[in-house]
Amino acid sequence: MSETPVAGQAWSAQGYARDAGFVPALGAPLLALLNARPGEQVLDLGCGDGVLTARLMETGAQVTGLEPDPDMARAARARGVQVIEQDAHDPFGAGAYDAVFSNAALHWMRDAPRVLANAFAALRPGGRLVAEQGGFGNVAAVVTALMAALEAGGHKAPARPVWDFPSVTGQRARLQAAGFAVEQIALIPRPTPLPTGIEGWLATFAGPFLAAVPEAAREGVLADCTRRLGALYDPHEGWIADYMRLRFVARKPA
Ligand code: BEZ
Repeated sequence: MSETPVAGQAWSAQGYARDAGFVPALGAPLLALLNARPGEQVLDLGCGDGVLTARLMETGAQVTGLEPDPDMARAARARGVQVIEQDAHDPFGAGAYDAVFSNAALHWMRDAPRVLANAFAALRPGGRLVAEQGGFGNVAAVVTALMAALEAGGHKAPARPVWDFPSVTGQRARLQAAGFAVEQIALIPRPTPLPTGIEGWLATFAGPFLAAVPEAAREGVLADCTRRLGALYDPHEGWIADYMRLRFVARKPA
């Protein structure tokens, strides 16, 4: 089954930095995999608040961020990132980049094949797509608890999956269908400590699940969800989310 994820997440750069600052902080292995060289033209697809993009700029590569959310784009520009403020579902260049880089953004896209086709078109022949996103099983406990809390409260669940967490096999097929040669792809378990707990994580990311829940009932749904997620709480280490990263390198044939 491959269903289209729903859109509909509003971002606050301030809230993201507080509750999800670990997202760019844990992006270092992906930067190493990209291995950007000085002067290379690199597009950061879904650059968010630009924290990781700014680190990418330190390599001497010519980096452009692509970010549809105005608050995130503003935060990225404040870090000196040149930002194209648009949705990755719309074309973002033809043969313009040596590399397209993306960390923790692709799972938000409604139509992955379309975004991958745009990335393919944006690369020069021989260019590479280096990306990490949530993969199969990512935050499965959290998704299950959210769905259970919605049902228990008599609320409608989202009609389609909120996030796109493909398997290795599924994403490889998509990349190949877009024209890429897949050089490497792996699903990597990464239990992730949450600095502001599951409450902070839900406040930042669970919005799309609550679209059909009246404002007054939302707190109750999130409290029920938190209660159901007790197994993710360790008394010594705090809240740890069940992250699974799908990391890949794919090349546009020369
Ligand atoms: C992730 O980075 O895997 C992720 C973040 C927020 C919501 C869902 C997944």
